[in-house]
Amino acid sequence: MQRVINKPDGQFTDADLDHLVKSTFVERVEFHDAIDSTNQRAMDLARNSAIRGPLLILAESQTNGRGRGTNRWWAEPGALTFTLLLDTGIPQRHLPQASLTVGLAVCEAIEGILETTEMQIKWPNDVYCQQRKLSGILIELPTTNAHLLAIGIGININNSLERAPEDLQATAVALSDVAQHEFSLTNVLVKVLNQLEARLECIGRNDGELRARWRERCLLTNRTIQMDLGTRKVSGRCRGIDDDGALLIETDSGLEVCFAGSITHF
Ligand code: BTN
Repeated sequence: MQRVINKPDGQFTDADLDHLVKSTFVERVEFHDAIDSTNQRAMDLARNSAIRGPLLILAESQTNGRGRGTNRWWAEPGALTFTLLLDTGIPQRHLPQASLTVGLAVCEAIEGILETTEMQIKWPNDVYCQQRKLSGILIELPTTNAHLLAIGIGININNSLERAPEDLQATAVALSDVAQHEFSLTNVLVKVLNQLEARLECIGRNDGELRARWRERCLLTNRTIQMDLGTRKVSGRCRGIDDDGALLIETDSGLEVCFAGSITHF
């Protein structure tokens, strides 16, 4: 375990960081009180060919949290923000499935904590609770160390959205807003990591059960949606997710099979 900066009143004690290593598949934790982005840190570390995972880069706050494309990840203290750097053995062609599988693991872990509330996946990598975004996932491939994967996850836990900018209040939610009480970040993180370990093992096994689980949680299925594919926009009725993790959109000119793109309306 490595504490990069030591702050006595932080949310993670040394005992918490030890507990994370003892109770999960993570071999090492690098903890930051504040950092620009845990994903950026993971990508920098991945340039070193000696790096082996699973390494957990955990931050109490980020000054430049990254999202997909040009998105930024906003979160006040109380959120979970971390990146797992690991060798998953997942071939590149299975990457669309990796996003969905990470989202599924987050859904399942949080459902285990909340017990009653249903969580959904907004393709390709957001987790929704009660129709609002609870978690964002950003998976990046280090170019210099191709066998590694950087899995960045942000989850709103005790950072009530009451204090967030107005546009975010309408679209995002924190676990403490749903449950009306706060949670131990360490306990939530242990549950998410354990579920991630279990689910990541299923990728590449042609696992029908895994696909069934993404499909039943797809927030967009049967909605009229708009997708920006970069070079063009498509709109139509979402027909779910195919076996490879692509989103299916029934448009006036036929079925679009989308492996990448941004949902602009749903
Ligand atoms: C998105 O909503 O587009 C994805 C957001 C991903 C945010 C997490 S927070 C931890 C990790 N570090 C980052 O800079 N981003 C991811």
